[in-house]
Amino acid sequence: MQIGVPNQVTPRERRVAVTPDVTTRLAKQEFSVIVDSGAGLQAGFPDYLFEEAGATIVDPPAAWGAELVVCLSSPTDEQTALLRPGGILLGLLEPLDEPQRAESFAAAGVTALAFETLPRTTRAQPMDVLSSQATAAGYQAVLVAAATHGKFFPMLTTAAGTIRPTKVLVLGAGVAGLQAIATAKRLGAIVSAYDVRAAAAEQVESLGARFVHLEIEQQDETKTGGYARELEADAQQRLLMQLGEYVARHDVVITTAAIPGRRAPRLVTREMVEDMAPGSVIVDLAAATGGNCELSRADEQVSHNGVVILAPTDLVSGVATHASQMYARNVAAVLTHLLQEEGVVIDFEDEITAGLCVTHEGRVVNEAVKSMLGGVD
Ligand code: NAI
Repeated sequence: MQIGVPNQVTPRERRVAVTPDVTTRLAKQEFSVIVDSGAGLQAGFPDYLFEEAGATIVDPPAAWGAELVVCLSSPTDEQTALLRPGGILLGLLEPLDEPQRAESFAAAGVTALAFETLPRTTRAQPMDVLSSQATAAGYQAVLVAAATHGKFFPMLTTAAGTIRPTKVLVLGAGVAGLQAIATAKRLGAIVSAYDVRAAAAEQVESLGARFVHLEIEQQDETKTGGYARELEADAQQRLLMQLGEYVARHDVVITTAAIPGRRAPRLVTREMVEDMAPGSVIVDLAAATGGNCELSRADEQVSHNGVVILAPTDLVSGVATHASQMYARNVAAVLTHLLQEEGVVIDFEDEITAGLCVTHEGRVVNEAVKSMLGGVD
């Protein structure tokens, strides 16, 4: 089966969905890989590395016409029109944020497999793009904060005096938040973190950070598929009242809180920013879904009373080489999972395949997406 790797490189996107090492692996299975010329260049993988790995380089946008296309983000309408009817599309397709995209894949006769709807189970972990890319984003968020903040992160004892360590607060301790905590710790900061999920406390503490206990009922994630629930209005109000003093006490605040398919929860208000010391930095990872900080502007640097608020939506591209490698390994794990003796099979009896599949044979098949579209197929 032919796998297409299109060129999706834009000013904000430097990753590529399949890397040369994974191309070698796929070539040993029954896949032949075609790559749009230049697709891997900004991630550090020029065309010749793909050719050495066994891929064929084609003129863009030819890779969109392959039997199975692996992309990073959802294709544009023009790119969707290039997809082969009866073909397969695998990538971050935003079915829950933009369900109408699923309709366009169904109309194009494409089987769309979205990483966002992969079950978060132990068996599916090697395929979990949300986790691998969140790891990259959490890491990069800390580096961006450290580069913006005018202070050292670690404690330094020097001939010019002792420097006190930077205090970092991480709000939301999922995959990105935990990686942010670990990275800030490695840089020597004093780190605290908060999350509404009860299980997060132990994970935060296992990284050597302090968990902030608030008087808000901690959620039992086992009842909600591992994810947090949106807070009721009064709990949200109490949360903001209690968080304020912690935000004010920290030099750097990294926010990663998210609720799947919903607007990002508001955790840092304008008043809280005004209580922070000048020179403090906020890095908001939730800008794509509205931001955790009231003052965040996606992909802009906002300064408010000397506090810098960054809300980059392209953090993973800052570590494009490794983020691509991790993405490509997740892709290879999915393809290996789908591959049976007779080739790639979409088996709805299989929990992972059924979870991934958003459209098939001209219809939207994912229940959550269907209900967002008002129940129409
Ligand atoms: P996410 O990106 O959906 O959300 C980030 C974090 O924000 C979560 O920890 C969430 O609890 C938190 N949050 C939401 N509302 C909040 C609020 N008002 N205040 C503070 N924090 C808030 O989460 P992510 O990183 O995708 O992880 C979701 C779950 O999936 C976690 O339970 C994680 O352990 C689990 N997981 C399981 C895997 C597996 O078993 N294969 C793999 C990866 C994650």
